[in-house]
Amino acid sequence: MPRPIQARLDLSALQSNLEVARRITSSRIMSVIKADGYGHGLLRAAEALSATDGYALLDIQNAVQLREAGFRQSILLLEGFFGPEDLPVIAEFNLACVIHSTEQIAMLDAFPGSGALDVWLKVNSGMNRLGFAPQQVARAMEQLRSHRAVRDITLMTHFANADEARGVAEPLALFNNLAAPYRVPRSLANSAALLRNPETHGDWVRPGIMLYGASPFPEVPAQQLGLRPAMTLSSRIIATQDLRAGDEVGYGALFRAEHAMRIGIVACGYADGYPRHASNGTPILVDGQRSRTVGRVSMDMLQVDLSDLPQAGVGSSVVLWGEGLPIEDVARSAGTISYELMCALAARVRIVT
Ligand SMILES: Cc1ncc(COP(=O)(O)O)c(C=O)c1O
Repeated sequence: MPRPIQARLDLSALQSNLEVARRITSSRIMSVIKADGYGHGLLRAAEALSATDGYALLDIQNAVQLREAGFRQSILLLEGFFGPEDLPVIAEFNLACVIHSTEQIAMLDAFPGSGALDVWLKVNSGMNRLGFAPQQVARAMEQLRSHRAVRDITLMTHFANADEARGVAEPLALFNNLAAPYRVPRSLANSAALLRNPETHGDWVRPGIMLYGASPFPEVPAQQLGLRPAMTLSSRIIATQDLRAGDEVGYGALFRAEHAMRIGIVACGYADGYPRHASNGTPILVDGQRSRTVGRVSMDMLQVDLSDLPQAGVGSSVVLWGEGLPIEDVARSAGTISYELMCALAARVRIVT
């Protein structure tokens, strides 16, 4: 019998979450499937989202994999190309690529091909990660518009605070100003902006997290947004321990029993992708009932309080996140975000669809 941990993926949820996006916007949808489809599997996610208008990811090999699997939609490389050897592949497989730096324009200049590339010029609207500074945009546009290797240009930016109170007003005004002189398609919105800021929708929206059924907003549950979680991480209790008052649990004695109690040992640890920083009290479901973790998460196991669950024991089912337990609640307790939990799902976890 295999170790009982598994990640069940409800791929129909991805489809339904894409429909939620469709109902909100009439813009074309570039589904973000980087990081192995946010941990759901590249081809699995692409297939489930096949009603999308395009896919955005990072690795050129993944883009080629999609083309070879028969996907004909636009495919956008979100960080563009990393070296000149990428350019013939981009042209051959008809991939669109972000151009965010003068170094990339120089590589493009050295590329002997002509007229085939669709580029997305990225504007740095305040995040200061990738993109041309506002004062560089006109020159970069000029270079790309007259470039023999370039077919179409889209102007894009990425918001730093769309999911927070600060919102998008400032970077949006900056971007709109810079884009005003050009009649080219525009793309700005991630999930948060798609859901909250119709004024950012432009020609292409780029949702990621919402497609996988998690909320981009700390204060708004996914369910309230009409989203369905796709990933449920579950396992079983493989042992129980009866603690006396004063007994300690796990590495570092992070938990000490105040009174006699029973705990369950769950076959799930940080090597499965469960966050080691999940503190005492992180929510967890045992036989469908909410309980809390106790003690430090170790590589292959974690502990759950069974005080209020007298029926639970070896073999009881445990949900770490997903169906019945929002991933956001677990992420909050571990000081992280749902994105990180999904992406960290370990390769050793069996996937069930
Ligand atoms: C450039 C870009 N666009 C869109 C997204 C999707 O963001 P989200 O998952 O918050 O919708 C990301 C993800 O980080 C991104 O880097």
